[in-house]
Amino acid sequence: MRVIHDSGEMTAWAEAHTGVGLVPTMGFLHRGHASLMHLLRPRCARLVVSIYVNPLQFGPTEDLATYPRDLDGDLRLCAEAGVDAVFAPSSLYPPGFATGVTIGGVADVLEGPSRPGHFAGVATVVARLFGVSRCRLAAFGEKDYQQLQVIRRMVLDLALPVEIVPGPLVRDDDGVALSSRNTYLSTEDRRRARSLSEALFAVQAAARSGVTDVGALTELGVAWLNVDRLEYLSIVDAESLAAIPTLDRPARALVAAKVGRTRLIDNVAVNP
Ligand code: PAF
Repeated sequence: MRVIHDSGEMTAWAEAHTGVGLVPTMGFLHRGHASLMHLLRPRCARLVVSIYVNPLQFGPTEDLATYPRDLDGDLRLCAEAGVDAVFAPSSLYPPGFATGVTIGGVADVLEGPSRPGHFAGVATVVARLFGVSRCRLAAFGEKDYQQLQVIRRMVLDLALPVEIVPGPLVRDDDGVALSSRNTYLSTEDRRRARSLSEALFAVQAAARSGVTDVGALTELGVAWLNVDRLEYLSIVDAESLAAIPTLDRPARALVAAKVGRTRLIDNVAVNP
C-alpha cells in the first residue's frame, strides 16, 4: 500500500493507474469507513482512501483543533481493507487557493443553518479531492445523509465525471451510529446518545404501521429523545430534503442534537 502526502504525487500516481475509486475521509477510521472501502473494492481497479481534516468545513467554534487523529491505526485499517493508496496530505490546497464551491437547495436546510459554511467547505474539498485523485467512483456514507445529497447535487450540476456510490449507515450494537466523534462521549453521554436512534426507529415503526401525518411522527420522535439540546428532528423528502406535510413518498427522518459537549447526527429511511 502506497502512502502519499503530496497532491502532485497523488495525481501522478492516479494518472498511471486507470479506474481509481476514492473513499474520502477525515481519518480516525472505524467500521463505517471500512464498509465503504469494501463496497468500492470490487468496483474499481485501484482503491484510494484520502485522510484529511479539512479546515474549510469547520466553523470557528467547532472541533477542528481537537478532531481525533490516529494515522497509524488508519493505515492498518486501510491495509486490511485492501486499499492501494492512502492520500494523507498535511496541506491540500495550493498556494493562492481562492476557489469555493457553494451549493443551494439541499445545502440550505437542516445542517445548513446550524453550520454556516459547512457544506461549501465540504463541496470545495471534495471537488479538489476528485480532481487530485482523478477518481471515477467515490463512496459516501449515509451517516452524513445530507452531505451525500449535497455531493450528488454538485456532481450533477457541474457534470463531474464521478459516480457517487452511497454506503449504508453502520451502527454499534447499542444502535448508536458510528462516528469518529463518538470518542468524545462519556459513559453517561453514550447511554443518552442511544435515544437518537431509538427516536428514529420509533418514527420508522409508526410510519410502517400507517401513520402518515408528518407532524405527529415528528412529535413522537422528539418524545423519545434524552439530549441536552435538540437542533432538529425533521422528516423530509428523501431526495430534495424539502419539508413534507404527509408521508406520501420516500422520506428521511434526520436528527441533530447535543449530548454533553458532543454534537451528534443520525438518520433513517421512512417510507409510507
Ligand atoms: O464525511 C467526511 O468525513 C468529510 O465531510 C469529507 C467527505 C471527507 C470531506 O472532508
